[in-house]
Amino acid sequence: MIDQKLADDLKRRARGGDASVLRSAELKSLFDQLKTMPAEQRGPFGKAVNELRQDLTELLAAHQDKAEESTPIDVTAPFDLNATAPQLFASGQGSQHPLMTELATVLDIFYRMGFTAVESRELDDDYHMFGSLNFPEGHPARDDYDTFMTVQTDKKGNQYIAPAHTSTMQNRVLKAGKKGLEAGQAIAAVIPGRVFRNEDLDARHEHTFYQLEGVYVDQGIHAGNLIATLKTFLQEYYGKQLEVKTQPFYFPFTEPSFELVVSCPFCDKAGCHICSQTGWIELLGCGMINPNVLTMAGIDPQIYTGFAWGMGIDRLVMMKYGIEDVRHFESGRLDFLEQFS
Ligand code: DAH
Repeated sequence: MIDQKLADDLKRRARGGDASVLRSAELKSLFDQLKTMPAEQRGPFGKAVNELRQDLTELLAAHQDKAEESTPIDVTAPFDLNATAPQLFASGQGSQHPLMTELATVLDIFYRMGFTAVESRELDDDYHMFGSLNFPEGHPARDDYDTFMTVQTDKKGNQYIAPAHTSTMQNRVLKAGKKGLEAGQAIAAVIPGRVFRNEDLDARHEHTFYQLEGVYVDQGIHAGNLIATLKTFLQEYYGKQLEVKTQPFYFPFTEPSFELVVSCPFCDKAGCHICSQTGWIELLGCGMINPNVLTMAGIDPQIYTGFAWGMGIDRLVMMKYGIEDVRHFESGRLDFLEQFS
């Protein structure tokens, strides 16, 4: 007799509208078995196989009828105003990440100074990470940015780079602003972005963090404008008078380059765990944009000068709230996050 499991399986497929069961290898093999069967078994087996095929045909037809029966959707019908409403979680069950809340405050201060915001990106190329920023190929300064690179390469065989700083956007911002600049409008942009570095993690180092880049170009711009801009920002953000100092530094994309040092807004120079008891904090890198960087963006450095800076948003926020470990931000720990909700 026909294997019951096989028959049930074929019927289940037919019931579901699978018309291929009639041509299936399983059904065909039942008919093939007939040919080699002893004559006395052939009669009842042949009858059973034919009945099975008949059942399958009927089940398929029934499925077809049902499909045709179902009423088409009336697109002109009034919609149901009483449809079940989506469930709202209590607002306490989720809140904005403190870095994003603080970033909005930071951006707002720069908007009020006339800057526009341009978003950075999370995957970039060698030219924007290094070349356009005056890092010649093979230059040791490239090693300072422990960059993550993709295995996948572009058409030229170069690996893509997870940006290690938001300076990757400088060339794009400068190029986009060139026309306006020549029409008398300064380039004034801030660029927030997530950046990535392959470094050893500790309370001050995280592989993923946020930076805010700033770029300002016009005629007659000098380092005094840079310091004044950053000081104005810091005083507004921390809501108090701060002292600032510059220390010479080296970046290939600025000349001269500085590190901006501020009096600790947490302890007002008294010394605390945030400033390692020194009263001062090295906050950010900055400088006057290197003429080569301007030239690569098509801007004439004989006519225009500008300044740029890059600051860690995590660090800025840590100093505001006395957060002792940068790793809290990416930890997803609710006991940390809930303090800001
Ligand atoms: N890109 C630098 C870094 O991440 C920071 C920086 C320094 C940005 C000087 C600038 C700058 O725009 O002018 O280490």
